[in-house]
Amino acid sequence: MEHFAPRVGIVTGGAHGIGRALAAEVVARGGLAVLADRDDEGARTTAAELTALGPGRAVAEHLDVADSAAVQALVEKVAAEHGRLDLMANNAGILFSGPLEEFTDHHWSTAIDVNLRGVVAGTRAAYAVMAQQESRRGRPAGVILNTGSLAGLIPAPRMAPYTSTKWAVVGFSQAVRHEAASHGIQVNVLCPGYVDTKLIDEVFEPTASYVRGSFRRNTKALQPRLLTPEVVARKAFSGIEKDKPVIIVGGFAHLSARAMGVAPAVVRAGSRLQAIREERQSRKGA
Ligand SMILES: NC(=O)c1ccc[n+]([C@@H]2O[C@H](COP(=O)([O-])OP(=O)(O)OC[C@H]3O[C@@H](n4cnc5c(N)ncnc54)[C@H](O)[C@@H]3O)[C@@H](O)[C@H]2O)c1
Repeated sequence: MEHFAPRVGIVTGGAHGIGRALAAEVVARGGLAVLADRDDEGARTTAAELTALGPGRAVAEHLDVADSAAVQALVEKVAAEHGRLDLMANNAGILFSGPLEEFTDHHWSTAIDVNLRGVVAGTRAAYAVMAQQESRRGRPAGVILNTGSLAGLIPAPRMAPYTSTKWAVVGFSQAVRHEAASHGIQVNVLCPGYVDTKLIDEVFEPTASYVRGSFRRNTKALQPRLLTPEVVARKAFSGIEKDKPVIIVGGFAHLSARAMGVAPAVVRAGSRLQAIREERQSRKGA
């Protein structure tokens, strides 16, 4: 595909961070971006800002991706109102940080509901709509972009609910991609390294030993220059245009993912060292 300019796209978690930047790409390419977020005020503000930039426009819709019936209803509503759905970006996600023994059932069920079931619900709903659409002039009938993470490609320690759900998103997206091709639907999974968004400051229900600000500090120790959401979104669109199955963004992510293929023992040793260092730091309260 030479230039991907979706006429209608839904971006979950579109109010902030990477989702906002993905929506901005849709608008910059002349399309309508539906910002589906549980932060209503944030989504409304972002929609107004993106619309002011144009040439396309953005609208805000309330959505909790953990509610799969609501995800389906929104996808159907958008497709019915606008006649089609070209992009479904299942991007909303939350972060977990801490040692395995401190995560509760609630951490696990929330991680699965938001980070995994949210992506599955968005994919299933968009799939049903896109399968009815025609693919025109060599273009897919629709594109489903799921946001995974570098943590879905390597054994990222001390964030087990996050790592588990992101590995699942990467596996799910790659498996579905091959079925979707028969319907003219393109499925790509986005795996950035660390990105400068509020996610890395807002750990979901911090566990007892979590020290405020430590996730961002630890992140910067691994990848001193954080990616910007805008760079991630640009790479995501160029990855869609090249139909890359897994769109890896950032030097650290590329290096880590490549090492995982050719020298996995090195990555595992790095993860072990990271786990030891973070455990020591959290004991010191640093
Ligand atoms: N920031 C990073 O370093 C990084 C790296 C790799 C992958 N990611 C992934 O990118 C995605 C976006 O994260 P971000 O960094 O832009 O974070 P962010 O916190 O800036 O944005 C996340 C957005 O998702 C929304 N959201 C959260 N839970 C939701 C729910 N249940 N329903 C609807 N909306 C919900 C939030 O309101 C927010 O607008 C996530 O899936 C995250 O795991 C982030």
